[in-house]
Amino acid sequence: MSNPSKSNSTLAPLCTSISSGRITSILVLAGAGLSTSAGIPDFRTPETGLYAKLAPLNLPYPEALFHISYFRHTPEPFYAFARARHPKNLRPTVAHAFLALLERKGKLKFVVTQNIDGLEVDAGVSVDRVLNAHGSWRGQRCLKCKVPFDAGRFRDAVGKGEVPICGVEGCGGAVKPDIVMFGERLPKEFDDVVENVLPEADMVLVMGTSLKVAPCSTLPRKVGGDVPRVLVNNEVVGDFGTRERDVCVIGSCDDGVREMARELGWEEELDEVWREAVERKERAVQAEGWDEENEPSLDECIARAAEKMKARNGVSDGHRRMLEGHLGEKMASILGRMNL
Ligand code: OAD
Ligand code: ZN
Repeated sequence: MSNPSKSNSTLAPLCTSISSGRITSILVLAGAGLSTSAGIPDFRTPETGLYAKLAPLNLPYPEALFHISYFRHTPEPFYAFARARHPKNLRPTVAHAFLALLERKGKLKFVVTQNIDGLEVDAGVSVDRVLNAHGSWRGQRCLKCKVPFDAGRFRDAVGKGEVPICGVEGCGGAVKPDIVMFGERLPKEFDDVVENVLPEADMVLVMGTSLKVAPCSTLPRKVGGDVPRVLVNNEVVGDFGTRERDVCVIGSCDDGVREMARELGWEEELDEVWREAVERKERAVQAEGWDEENEPSLDECIARAAEKMKARNGVSDGHRRMLEGHLGEKMASILGRMNL
């Protein structure tokens, strides 16, 4: 078993294989840790992760924020999160830039990302090489009647922390961005990746994910035993470290990609690709005229939404939680319809 700690002795031969052309088809699996240095907290890191920040909202359990059956009757917490996390003004990190550089070098087979921030493409990775396995903010539709909702009106509502409501006569359903919530199916392209892309990969690079959410978490285990797997993450996750050819680069994604770039002799190019990507994004942000100064923080958005929900509820939050927990979704949705 290889030593699951930061170790150049294992990274070096792998980078030699990349440089020499023995490795040409890298499959990347990315998670929230790839974007934390862009200012987006991840989900499960204790204290700093999103799920630790949700206490004021009194959710039945943290993941309810992204559960389709909870969203159906109580979409407000999701839109509190959305106000702070809509990816309008985020800059790609150096780790995102590394993926673009891999593609430029002809080494990138494909990126499966669980992130919905779109920073892989902002960094310069081709759209057709990225699968947003948990969806994205690129479109939105009514949850009830499925009619697409106007992008401008959606952005306005998100900017105010309001729930966008379908305009189709007699519908009044909540609008949901095209992100994949718990309880929803992943895009069918995910199956294509498993069947057609994964078997052709000659290296797997896993970055910034706890590997706690299926089916993405199963990808690293599905690759053949002779395919090298590299983990760049703050901690060892999944079954990393159990295979002979595993390499675990423990630390931040940004430090990890810099270490790889150094081994590959790509350091200068990496910084160049990153600088270009950030400048591109800054121009786009300016062109859209987004007001970054007055963006409320995630904590502020959560606090405001908690106040609003308290004011709106005739029943106590504890009572509602009890009902949701014990009597289930049906009762909660009746209460929702009665506006309690
Ligand atoms: P998690 O928050 O579960 O895991 C993030 C992982 O990245 C953890 O192992 C952290 O230690 C690590 N990490 C954090 N910051 C890092 C950094 N700067 N450098 C390196 N590692 C870092 O996030 P995901 O695995 O992406 O789904 O979560 C998977 C899914 O669960 C999400 O897509 C989302 C969530 O609920 C849905 O909402 C459907
Ligand atoms: Zn509708």
